[in-house]
Amino acid sequence: MIGGQDKLRKRQLREETAPEETAPEKTAPGSTSSGSTSSGKRSSVRTVYRNEESEPMKMIDIKKLIYEYTRRDDEGNIESVNRAVDGVDLDIEKGDFVAILGHNGSGKSTIAKHINAILMPTEGAVWVDGIDTREEERVWDVRQAAGMVFQNPDNQIIATVVEEDVGFGPENMGVPTEEIWKRVEQSLRAVGMIEYRYHSPNKLSGGQKQRVAIAGLMAMKPQCIVLDEPTAMLDPNGRREVIKTVRELNQKEGITVLLITHYMDEVTSADKVIVMDEGKVVMQGTPREVFSRVDELKARRLDVPQATELAWELKKEGINLPDGILTVEDFGKAFEEYVNTNGGLK
Ligand SMILES: Nc1ncnc2c1ncn2[C@@H]1O[C@H](COP(=O)(O)OP(=O)(O)OP(=O)(O)O)[C@@H](O)[C@H]1O
Ligand SMILES: [Mg+2]
Repeated sequence: MIGGQDKLRKRQLREETAPEETAPEKTAPGSTSSGSTSSGKRSSVRTVYRNEESEPMKMIDIKKLIYEYTRRDDEGNIESVNRAVDGVDLDIEKGDFVAILGHNGSGKSTIAKHINAILMPTEGAVWVDGIDTREEERVWDVRQAAGMVFQNPDNQIIATVVEEDVGFGPENMGVPTEEIWKRVEQSLRAVGMIEYRYHSPNKLSGGQKQRVAIAGLMAMKPQCIVLDEPTAMLDPNGRREVIKTVRELNQKEGITVLLITHYMDEVTSADKVIVMDEGKVVMQGTPREVFSRVDELKARRLDVPQATELAWELKKEGINLPDGILTVEDFGKAFEEYVNTNGGLK
């Protein structure tokens, strides 16, 4: 119905070489390698592939991950080495909704690309559902377990009709036709795009395209989706649509979500927030725990949710509101309590 292995490959290549992603360093297993690549490391990779080191229940298990982008000249001599990820330990439980925050260049995308086996560790290891991403022959299992959504919706849709695009992943997995159509329908319903099934993706808004891309992943029945700034190119409506869709998939379908974003309001309902800086995980905890540490976040050039910011400003003025205010509702409640307890504002 929808094309062949080539098409899946084409989609994967598009993702790997999307304009903002273009980099000579990348060597996805099976992709064309560009000679001067730092993933030359791949050839020296040890064969410690069994998952004894990974705890079986973890969806994603990252241990002591180091990744260095290496630039080489035409003769293959190393010109520069940039350590983008510097000793990261991170684990994500099945069913969790985890958000990663961090200033530009802090290593977030580099981590995401390890989870999708687009990049291989320079040191350390990454397990996805117990599979070591260095196991070359299991790269498609890794990618099926943890699907990836990138920033640019236009790089992720390749068919000319929405339903074909969504059906394309399962078709390449060899899913029987009848089952493909079932999955297409279910997935499009899950992302609220069923009425667009016969439409051309070109005519959709950015938010709708991202939802179609997410439906395409869902049709492959991943256990986990990794979204690398999926709303960065969307307007506020598109952002809301996409985040709502992702939350529902997490809550209703139990899909594990790893969301990389610069928008603070997208992370307030995450189970866990991870903050990265200069290739390291520097903070982690529930949104309330992390956003209680406003000074530290600001020192790391990060914003906080608006309600958190307001409470923090008022606190500096002597209005002693509690830490960890995340939403307007939290703020309203805390402020009311303050006024009631203090008989007014001062
Ligand atoms: N292809 C590449 N070649 C060389 N260095 C790279 C490459 N991609 C990323 N880097 C460097 O690695 C570091 C981490 O980059 P990464 O893209 O992972 O950060 P990020 O947290 O995703 O940033 P952003 O918020 O801007 O997307 C940065 O110093 C960046 O310049
Ligand atoms: Mg990035």
